[in-house]
Amino acid sequence: MKILSVVGARPNFMKIAPFIWAIEKYNHRQNSQPETVKHILVHTGQHYDDSMSKAFFTDLHIPAADINLGIGSGTHAEQVGHTMIAFEKVIRAQKPDWVVVVGDVNATLACSVTAKKEWIKVCHIEAGLRSGDLTMPEEINRLVTDRLSDLLLAPDMLSVQNLRAEGVPEKKIRFVGNIMIDTLEANRKRARSLDVNEIIRRYSLSHDNDHKLDSSYAVLTIHRPSNVDSAEVLEPIVSFLTGEVAEELTLLWPVHPRTEKRLAEFGLYGRVAANRNIILMEPVGYLDMLRLNMEARVMLTDSGGLQEECTVLGTPCLTLRWNTERPVTLREHGGASVLTGNDIERIRSAFHQAMNSSRTPLRPELWDGHTAERCLEAILGFGY
Ligand code: UD1
Repeated sequence: MKILSVVGARPNFMKIAPFIWAIEKYNHRQNSQPETVKHILVHTGQHYDDSMSKAFFTDLHIPAADINLGIGSGTHAEQVGHTMIAFEKVIRAQKPDWVVVVGDVNATLACSVTAKKEWIKVCHIEAGLRSGDLTMPEEINRLVTDRLSDLLLAPDMLSVQNLRAEGVPEKKIRFVGNIMIDTLEANRKRARSLDVNEIIRRYSLSHDNDHKLDSSYAVLTIHRPSNVDSAEVLEPIVSFLTGEVAEELTLLWPVHPRTEKRLAEFGLYGRVAANRNIILMEPVGYLDMLRLNMEARVMLTDSGGLQEECTVLGTPCLTLRWNTERPVTLREHGGASVLTGNDIERIRSAFHQAMNSSRTPLRPELWDGHTAERCLEAILGFGY
C-alpha cells in the first residue's frame, strides 16, 4: 500500500510525526512482507522559515520531506490554488492509494480537494472539530476536508457527534484519540530535562539576553488574524500585557512572524521590547515549548494545539478566542482552558482566576499516546 501524507504549516508537524513512527514500526514488524506500507511525505512549504518548519523536523526526528512544493506565503486563494496545481502533478506521478491530511491549515484543504478530484482515497486525521465560526479560514478547511474524506479519524467523542449530526455515514468515522498527544507523551521526558533559562537565552530577542528568571512566568502566543491584524484589537491587548500581566510575573512571548510584522506596523513593538518583564522570543521549537508549558503559571494563547497540550499538562489556559473547535479542552468539560475572546475585562478576570488556580491535568478518553497506531490500523483495515 502506498500512503502519501501532507504537511504544510507548523501545527501539522507534531501531528504527522507519530503517524510516520507508526508506519516505521508496522513495516519493521512486517519484516518486508508484501503488506509493507510505502510512505511519501509531501511538504507544501506554506511555512518555510527554519524556526517554523525545519526546527520541528529536527526535534521530532521527522525524515526530510520527499517532495517540497515550495508554496510559501500569499493570500488564501494564492496558497490554496498554487498548492492544488503543484499537488495534482505529485498525485499523478506518485499514484498513491491514500492521501492522509492532518489538521485544518490551507494545505489540508488544498490537498484533500485535489486528491478526491484524482479519485484517490483521503483520510483526515483530526476530523470533526467544529467552531461554528465561518470567519475562521480553518473552519472552512475543516468542513470541506471532512465532507470529502473517505475516512474521518476523530480525536474525541464531541467531534464524532459533530460528524454524525452532519450525516456522515458511520462506516467512515473512527474515534482514535488525539494524535498530538502521542507526540507529547513521546517527548515529555526529553523536554523535562531542558533548562528553562537556557531556552530563554537561546531564543530571546532582547538585547539583555542574560535574563534569569527569578519568579514564575506566563507564556503568551498570539497569531490569529482576528487578534493581531487590527490595531484596535492588538493595542489594548498589548496595554494589558505591559501594564498588568508584566507587573505580576515575567511574560515569555515567542512571537509568530505575522504578529511581529503587525506589532512593528502598528508602532507597538518598541513598547513591548522596552518592558523589562516581557521577554520577546523567536518562535520556539517543539521540545522547548513543551518545557515552557510544563512550568508556566498561566498560558495565554489563541492556538488550538496549545489548548490541548495545556489540558494534558494541567496549565491554566486563557484562550484568546470567542469560540473553540476543541470544547473538550474547556473547564466545563474538565479541561484547563477558558474562552476570553479579546475583551480585556474578560481576559483580566480569567487571568486573576488562573493565577489563583492550581495545575490539574486531564486525560480525555483515548488521549493515551497510541492514536497514530489506531490511525494506521483504520487505514489498513478500511474495507469498502
Ligand atoms: C497558519 C494556519 C493556522 C495556524 C498557523 C500556525 C491556515 C489558514 N492558517 O496561519 O491555522 O494556526 O499557521 O502558525 O493555514 N510567515 C513567515 N515565515 C513562515 C511562515 C509565515 O514569515 O515560515 C509570515 C508571512 O508573512 C505570512 C504570515 O506569516 O504571510 C502568515 O503565514 P500563513 O502561513 O499565511 O498563516 P499563519 O498565520 O501562520
